[in-house]
Amino acid sequence: MSAAEVANKRAVVEKRGTKETAVVSTSSDTVPPPPPGHIQVKVGAAGIAFADCLQRCGLYPGSPPEPYTPGYDACGTVTALGEGVEGYTVGDRVAMLCVWGAASQHLNFPVGAPSKPHGSKSQPFGGASHIAKVPSSLKGSGDGEVVSLVLNYVTAYQMLHRVGNIPRSCTDSSERKTVLVHGAAGGVGTAVLELCKAAGARCIGTCSG
Ligand SMILES: NC(=O)c1ccc[n+]([C@@H]2O[C@H](COP(=O)([O-])OP(=O)(O)OC[C@H]3O[C@@H](n4cnc5c(N)ncnc54)[C@H](OP(=O)(O)O)[C@@H]3O)[C@@H](O)[C@H]2O)c1
Repeated sequence: MSAAEVANKRAVVEKRGTKETAVVSTSSDTVPPPPPGHIQVKVGAAGIAFADCLQRCGLYPGSPPEPYTPGYDACGTVTALGEGVEGYTVGDRVAMLCVWGAASQHLNFPVGAPSKPHGSKSQPFGGASHIAKVPSSLKGSGDGEVVSLVLNYVTAYQMLHRVGNIPRSCTDSSERKTVLVHGAAGGVGTAVLELCKAAGARCIGTCSG
């Protein structure tokens, strides 16, 4: 085993199906040293999103064939650098949008130009636009907290502020907006509620009894 090849455990969707019929297991293997243009990351936390359920059911376009490792996003620490990687050092804390493959103890993630086409059978999503260094202002937050920012909060932010045009600060009563959030108890819904609160918007949420 070379220096950067590491023993690994990961989740595997062996057979797609409903929560009753799908076969999901854990697998032990090794992760090879990062190829050129990749960093190796020790994953501290991986997100499981509604989109993972859709992938497991076979309802998510472009997802890989079985067997595959699920996990939409991850936060962890850089443990090795592939040839040609610039801008990262071992020990950096990073957060990544993986779309699948995050539910693994270690992974190699491309940090160069985005893979084209985005996500194929052999090449997961990745590239410089799908990874960010975790700012030092979040050093008090665990990897599980940080990973929620990647999919849920970025989606919520875009819906609220870019699509919905809700100002980031609308505490002035003349500008105060009211936002109706369906699915308010879910991952994205919870993020929308918190961003509304931060912006000073009035929020109404719906959820099941
Ligand atoms: N960039 C993107 O396009 C993007 C990114 C992220 C998520 N999404 C989408 O956003 C949605 C929410 O994702 P999420 O990760 O927040 O999911 P989640 O955590 O599973 O939450 C989904 C919420 O939807 C509610 N719900 C489920 N079935 C419902 C139904 N038939 N009628 C009304 N409400 C229902 C549930 O409410 P109760 O708890 O009250 O039962 C649940 O809390 C999903 O459709 C997901 O695919 C899109």
